[in-house]
Amino acid sequence: MVEFDVIIIGGGPGGYVCAIRCAQLGLKTAVVEGRDTLGGTCLNVGCIPSKALLNATHNLHEAHENFEKMGIMGAAPTVDWARMLGYKDDVIGQNTKGIEFLFKKNKVTWLKGWGSIPAAGQVKVGEETHTAKNIVIATGSESSSLPGVTIDEEVIVTSTGALTLKSIPKKLVVIGAGVIGLEMGSVYARLGAEVTVIEYLDAITPGMDAEVAKTFQRILTKQGLKFILGAAVQGVDKGKTGATVRYKLRKDDSAATLDADTVLVATGRRPYTTGLGLEALGVEMLPRGQVKTDSHFATNIAGLYAIGDAITGPMLAHKAEDEGMALAEILAGKAGHVNYDVIPGVIYTTPEVANVGKTEEQLKEEGRAYKVGKFSFMGNGRAKAVFQGEGFVKILADKATDRILGAHIIGPMAGDLIHEICVAMEFGASAQDLALTCHAHPTYSEAVREAALACGDGAIHA
Ligand code: NAI
Repeated sequence: MVEFDVIIIGGGPGGYVCAIRCAQLGLKTAVVEGRDTLGGTCLNVGCIPSKALLNATHNLHEAHENFEKMGIMGAAPTVDWARMLGYKDDVIGQNTKGIEFLFKKNKVTWLKGWGSIPAAGQVKVGEETHTAKNIVIATGSESSSLPGVTIDEEVIVTSTGALTLKSIPKKLVVIGAGVIGLEMGSVYARLGAEVTVIEYLDAITPGMDAEVAKTFQRILTKQGLKFILGAAVQGVDKGKTGATVRYKLRKDDSAATLDADTVLVATGRRPYTTGLGLEALGVEMLPRGQVKTDSHFATNIAGLYAIGDAITGPMLAHKAEDEGMALAEILAGKAGHVNYDVIPGVIYTTPEVANVGKTEEQLKEEGRAYKVGKFSFMGNGRAKAVFQGEGFVKILADKATDRILGAHIIGPMAGDLIHEICVAMEFGASAQDLALTCHAHPTYSEAVREAALACGDGAIHA
């Protein structure tokens, strides 16, 4: 039996990135993963497969809506669902095999099976017990359901079942207007399903800049999604073929129902630490099920650490990756750090929605003096050329110092555009720093520069 410097439990973006960095820094590293493939939720049943389906259906939508406008004529393409799912599975396979290759390249040992921690410094996988100086919990999260709702992953599904439906539903009800609900709702709306999203709050995407959320809802409505806001789902009853969703409108407590072929429950995720033996070990937990850690990802048990969805903070793959890298540096005796003020969020619909830093609502609540620089994609030639003039870039900067405090984008490639603002924020840049940087023409990024100009003397094309 070998003793490892680090054993990481969980081979998702947090765990595998932590492992590769640990190995690169000279630590003898193993990852415990019970799935047949590496990559966790993100690569197997989350970020990557959903992006494949978003890409396929975006192209379908373009063919139906915009090809004729560009003079591309001919019969509109139809969907071979089995082939589309096959394409998605190929994308998953390429990515998960890629991680396996990286493990071999970096000499990370994959301990196949489900791990538990029988005692400090020990990890049990199957019948074997391995020892390690450091153990990292990177077990991620699972979909959380609602009372009165039994998931069967066929008719009443989570994001996992929504990626492998046997056929395209005629009627899809999505519970929860968060990231998963809107991304998967978009996929099926583009495939021709009648999609209704039921949301408990009075706006979609809670926590997002309110102006962006409003524009986003308007655009999605134009794309055919229906919204029932301020509605609390009471339960879902499975019928012979489909299911019936029961909900109450919060404003007057009136009850209503909605029939569907498929119901997607997208009401959030919760940390997944089942079966690790944390209670017997005496690991301190937070009330919402996360492992309690200090600023160096250490738990109350010496040599036991946790990262990613299993601890506090946004449940995002890139947040977990950054924590994985920072922890690896710490375990190798270096300084590891995550700047939680600059973690971007992206929704991969069309248009994309992206944000970083503070929202206007947060700044108001904090009583901070700020200014807003806003620029519409209608003034961006490139966006108009691809029929994506709707949406805008909004930069929030400190009123006195001009330092960028946050940015919110709804528009083409928003998920990529946001990163120049992330880099600027990491360097403590002012809006003027962005505005004085030459941006190539014609690019979508000119809209970011124009928003930065709008924080000062004004945008040019507004
Ligand atoms: P979410 O937290 O983003 O949204 C859940 C929504 O459900 C909220 O709007 C909430 O108000 C609503 N809700 C809760 N209970 C309800 C009820 N009884 N009736 C009606 N509505 C109700 O959660 P979601 O979309 O399930 O995503 C889970 C996690 O996965 C999130 O942390 C998300 O950030 C992450 N994720 C990120 C993606 C990305 O970065 N592009 C893609 C997919 C997931």
